Amino acid sequence: MRGQLKSMDDEDEPPQSLLAGGPRRPVIAIDGPAGAGKSTLAAHLARQFGFLNIETGAMYRALALKAIEGDVSFDEEGPLLALAQATRITLEPQMDGNRVRLDGMEVSQRIRDADVTSAASRISIHPQVRAWMVEQQRALGAEGGVVMEGRDIGTAVFPDAEVKIFLDAAPEVRGSRRFRQALPHEQTTARQTESRQAPEPENAEQQRACEQAIVDEMRERDRRDRNRAESPLRPAQDAVLLDSTAMQLEEVLARAEEIVRAHLPHTESGPA
Ligand code: DC
Repeated sequence: MRGQLKSMDDEDEPPQSLLAGGPRRPVIAIDGPAGAGKSTLAAHLARQFGFLNIETGAMYRALALKAIEGDVSFDEEGPLLALAQATRITLEPQMDGNRVRLDGMEVSQRIRDADVTSAASRISIHPQVRAWMVEQQRALGAEGGVVMEGRDIGTAVFPDAEVKIFLDAAPEVRGSRRFRQALPHEQTTARQTESRQAPEPENAEQQRACEQAIVDEMRERDRRDRNRAESPLRPAQDAVLLDSTAMQLEEVLARAEEIVRAHLPHTESGPA
């Protein structure tokens, strides 16, 4: 598999100069659990500072979709790695998220479905799959000028990132935000929310049950992400922790901008 940004020629390997460790523009790493608001924050910072926004979770999701379609077990590392090596994942950064292609097919919406969400979490525990992903992600961000979002960006992918933010929130708050985003009338952006097929609940009781199901699924994913042996979800030692449990979105964005400016005093605001 090769993870690629659209701006790279589909048939070319990343240029050697990008892989050689030369000077690069800054990297902003955003990590945290599902539903904390990482994608919204990453898209905002990318727009604000003229960086490219890279959603690494979309790469795990795309590989998980390929495993589902090819009937490859989520528990067997060897076949999953072989599958990865034969797959091409392309991320196309947009104003509001990444458009995702799997072997040339547009899968941006399909990868948000609940079956893919769960499979992505399961395939991501395998060390060799992670090592492959990390290699791809380092190549994508090698020039810098990126806001990279995921679970292990500040700890494993770019441990030398200039800015590291760990965005967290209480599980109930994350679950209820996800539930609201999953309602059909809320889905308007390129970065469609996961669990898309959640039906519009008809009454308050159904609504509570739907919300509870999302919170339960999120806890299960959190447990897997935080407890896996390889690169478990945890803040890097030098990450700034941002707990958005009691914050409005605007406050989170403003606080994150302050953090970026404090770490990158010479970075101008405004589109690239
Ligand atoms: O961010 P997301 O919900 O789209 O990620 C989907 C899954 O991929 C998540 O449950 C764990 C995995 N993931 C990971 O292990 N490391 C990353 N950097 C990004 C995602």
